[in-house]
Amino acid sequence: MADFTFYAPTQIVFGRGGENQIGALVKAQNGKKVLLHYGGGSARRSGLLDRIRASLTAAGIAYTELGGVVPNPRLSLVREGIDLCRREGVDFLLAVGGGSVIDSAKAIGYGVTNEGDVWDFYDRRRQASACLPVGVVLTIAAAGSEMSSSSVITKEEGGIKRGYSSNLCRPRFAVMNPELTMTLPPYQTACGCTDILMHTLERYFTNNGGNMELTDGIAEALLRTVMKNAVILRDDPENYGARAEVMWAGSLSHNGLTGCGNGGDDFSVHALEHELSGMYDVAHGAGLAAVWGSWARYVYRECLPRFEQFAVRVMGVPAGTADTALRGIEALEAFFRSIGMPTSLRELGVEPSEQDLLTLSRKCGVATGGTKGSAKKLHEPDMLAIYRMAL
Ligand code: NZQ
Ligand code: ZN
Repeated sequence: MADFTFYAPTQIVFGRGGENQIGALVKAQNGKKVLLHYGGGSARRSGLLDRIRASLTAAGIAYTELGGVVPNPRLSLVREGIDLCRREGVDFLLAVGGGSVIDSAKAIGYGVTNEGDVWDFYDRRRQASACLPVGVVLTIAAAGSEMSSSSVITKEEGGIKRGYSSNLCRPRFAVMNPELTMTLPPYQTACGCTDILMHTLERYFTNNGGNMELTDGIAEALLRTVMKNAVILRDDPENYGARAEVMWAGSLSHNGLTGCGNGGDDFSVHALEHELSGMYDVAHGAGLAAVWGSWARYVYRECLPRFEQFAVRVMGVPAGTADTALRGIEALEAFFRSIGMPTSLRELGVEPSEQDLLTLSRKCGVATGGTKGSAKKLHEPDMLAIYRMAL
């Protein structure tokens, strides 16, 4: 097992009705003026925003609001939020939504507390020295941003999507009520389950971990649990138990736990996908499913024992089967199709030209600083080859 640091400071309030504790939770964090940040309408339609406003008011906490965060959240709204927070003296950011809203809040938090252009952090020009405290009411199990150190923002000019990671932005608390996810469209539920799987897979396929009995056991149980419950939710979207399993898995999948001791994550599929959602504005989870199989076929020979272990322990391929690793890859692709996820770019609904593929791989090369990966180190020509295979 490789050496590691694990840091997961977020307080989790899990279960029905948690959103009614928001006032007390913000107060415990010493928040006096809140920015209530949310998306395009689901939280308003479900009545969730009203319950949160009531809880803040009952606790005597002042708030201002900024809605309209879109999936693949935009830099322009982040800038608007920074100005608003400065004008209104906001000292606490409350994100009500999924990864997009949480990431937008984190970016606003950096912008308010640091001088200069907030994009500098995402453009890898400098490091942030502070972030406003962020709290979360989670409405979709997917990105894991409620416990993660990262935020991902899209700059409209050029469709440039970039992530920035720092422990400064890890949320202070996350309210996780599985019932809130029952209003999700089936496609978003499936995208979320895919992203959750991927956050663990990107940590699992490593060449540097050595023996990782416990971490592997946690990772494999998480993967099996999410696949099982994704199928239950496909057929029974209001199943509370399945919603709860998936929601908790979403946080554990991306808070670092499933990578403890792995000697370095892979995260190539994420790098490849971020260029797709930056350029074509597709849902992140669907983009991941569309390229995963091509990535896996491209790299598996260089990480064979891990792919074989995955096939047997997670996908149920009998040990000793010929081409065990490939059977495991095929089985995960079949699972993606069973929950309505694409396994190619065409199925994702995008048809890039050869020139577009060159642009995607060039941008991916820039975003990753030239190389990415642990299962296999990818360079720009490898990225191009994988995009081509994914067509
Ligand atoms: O805007 P509303 O109306 O709320 O609709 C949203 C949105 O259209 C809808 N939705 C959310 N909760 C709902 C709901 N609809 C009905 N009922 C509910 N309860 O779902 C749609 C997707 O929301 P979004 O927040 O975009 O989803 P997700 O959590 O998948 O976040 C995706 C973003 O997170 C980034 C992705 O790249 C993408 O930009 N990621 C962030 C990470 C992080 N910060 O750690 C890691 C991830 O790998 C990922 O890159
Ligand atoms: Zn992801």
